[in-house]
Amino acid sequence: MLENEVIQSVILDDENNALVILDQALLPNEKIFLRLTSQNQIWEAIYALRVRGAPAIGIAAGYGAYLGTKESKAETYEALYEDFKKVKDYLASSRPTAVNLFWALDRMENRFLREKGKTAAEVKEALRQEAEAIRAEDELVCKTIGENALSLLKSGMGILTHCNAGAIATAKYGTALAPIYLGKERGYDFKVYADETRPLLQGARLTAWELKEAGVDVTLICDNMASIVMKEGKIQAVLVGCDRVAANGDTANKIGTSGVAILAKHYGVPFYVCAPLSTIDLKCEHGDNIHIELRPDEEVTSKWYEKPMAPAGVKVYNPCFDVTDHNLITAIVTEKGIAYPPYNESLAKLFE
Ligand code: MRU
Repeated sequence: MLENEVIQSVILDDENNALVILDQALLPNEKIFLRLTSQNQIWEAIYALRVRGAPAIGIAAGYGAYLGTKESKAETYEALYEDFKKVKDYLASSRPTAVNLFWALDRMENRFLREKGKTAAEVKEALRQEAEAIRAEDELVCKTIGENALSLLKSGMGILTHCNAGAIATAKYGTALAPIYLGKERGYDFKVYADETRPLLQGARLTAWELKEAGVDVTLICDNMASIVMKEGKIQAVLVGCDRVAANGDTANKIGTSGVAILAKHYGVPFYVCAPLSTIDLKCEHGDNIHIELRPDEEVTSKWYEKPMAPAGVKVYNPCFDVTDHNLITAIVTEKGIAYPPYNESLAKLFE
């Protein structure tokens, strides 16, 4: 995704009261933009991963909170606040793990509270500006994460990534894929290995698609091939995104990430987490306190397949994130710099 080939996966069409998203559930076969005009549609788009990836979920929630409040007929500040809170609580129930959802909604609420005494129209305009700021800042944040992560890499390296932490998961550039895009612009020759990322195949459907579109050398592997590519010396660094980083550095990301980190430790490969500050949750002491989303059985047994790939009625367990222990993480790369262990100290310092 070089400067001139930007996919805007989440934008506001204010004139038509719509949130416009690239439907990530249809990729790579169809590139369709959806115009979402009701709160139900926005909630469903987040739940069904049409808009997904922690920063993109936060951006969508910010726009959703604005659009939902804009619809309100309330005439006073207090009455509008009641309506805003209903929208906020509803959107907050769409997915539990990515802290960016709650971060963005809290930020919208703080903006609302700062506008006390203003007219309903003025408050709505302030919410629009706040939502646009969340999107615009994310673009800058991702670029800076990319610059910082690039300082850890060298041309020619083999890089393994899991799930999709790319441009479409953010406002632009991505987090874990940002250094790859920036490196490509500067002539670096990375060889990227994308885990397919069962069960929803974000690696195969999204990362492989995004990187191939951008002309990056990308090779798709099944999740259970990560060990062999590391053993064969093909991987010099692992880069992943995240949905929530606890104060001690424990990191929730797409299911399977912790297994990749354990392998990386075994083979002596550095394991880097790329995280905007909006994904770091200092109020969460450690990974055991992170709510792990459980998703429907059919995502494991039949979704994306022509016929079911498991016996009817088999018991299924489908946690969609796992927590990588902080001891397995070489560094956490943010827009404020690179945090190294001990994370309790280094992460807190980033917020000073
Ligand atoms: O369930 P998903 O597809 O929303 O999960 C996304 C991830 O796990 C990403 O790695 C994470 O949100 C970072 S996106 C920059």
